[in-house]
Amino acid sequence: MVEYTENMAKLEFRGKNYEYKLHEMPEEFFRWQIDNRLKGLKIFLGEEKGMPNFSPHTVVMNTPEYENEFCINSCIKGLGLVPRSDKIRELGERAVELIRKSYDIGADRTFRERVGMLVELYSNPETFDRSILSSMEMYKKRTYKNVLEDPRANLLFYDNQTGYSVMFSVICEFVPRGDDYYTYVSAIHDLFHLPKDPSIKTDRYDFAYRFHLVEAFEKTPGPRASTRIY
Ligand SMILES: Cc1cc2nc3c(=O)[nH]c(=O)nc-3n(C[C@H](O)[C@H](O)[C@H](O)COP(=O)(O)O)c2cc1C
Repeated sequence: MVEYTENMAKLEFRGKNYEYKLHEMPEEFFRWQIDNRLKGLKIFLGEEKGMPNFSPHTVVMNTPEYENEFCINSCIKGLGLVPRSDKIRELGERAVELIRKSYDIGADRTFRERVGMLVELYSNPETFDRSILSSMEMYKKRTYKNVLEDPRANLLFYDNQTGYSVMFSVICEFVPRGDDYYTYVSAIHDLFHLPKDPSIKTDRYDFAYRFHLVEAFEKTPGPRASTRIY
């Protein structure tokens, strides 16, 4: 239903064809993601003071819901940045190995190593693919059904510490287990939210989301409110 070329997505929906130019994330948004994630991790390690800011990690996802009179459904997704394709396999394997080690010797004994791997990642911003955002589909309820029907969605970010807010229009792609991308996204999720029970498999969810960025709008209150970034 969607065909991807280097920086375009071609969508056929209900007999109509749509072509979307794909973009990289705006520099300000990327810095906001990297800086807050890095600071939060350093707070966990006791290297910085303050409260971790989880705003970059949680996004409101809105999907069209054609069967519902109100036409829209919203939920929250945990959101991640993704390494470039030449790095993703190695980093995914490293995270899987670290999860295995945590089950072997105990989560507490790998805490610094797990957080340390994430610190290393966010300390090297050039590692990341700026054209993609990721999440896991954990419930396969309304959002899932809506995306299967129409892959267009909105992601709304809001920083509750500063008021910074951005909305993206995205095309959602489901990536199944067995793919390096899926392995990375699921393993990084578990590296941080390590399940207590080792029998809980890292590939327990059917799909990771790959969000392709089509439009971006400022939503921060003030003079820039509602201006188009691209
Ligand atoms: C803080 C927070 C993080 C969440 N993260 C995810 C997530 O990463 N993936 C997911 O599928 N659901 C996540 N959820 C649950 C969704 O908000 C929602 O309950 C789920 O998608 C089912 O709703 P739906 O029928 O609208 O899809 C999260 C909820 C909260 C409050």
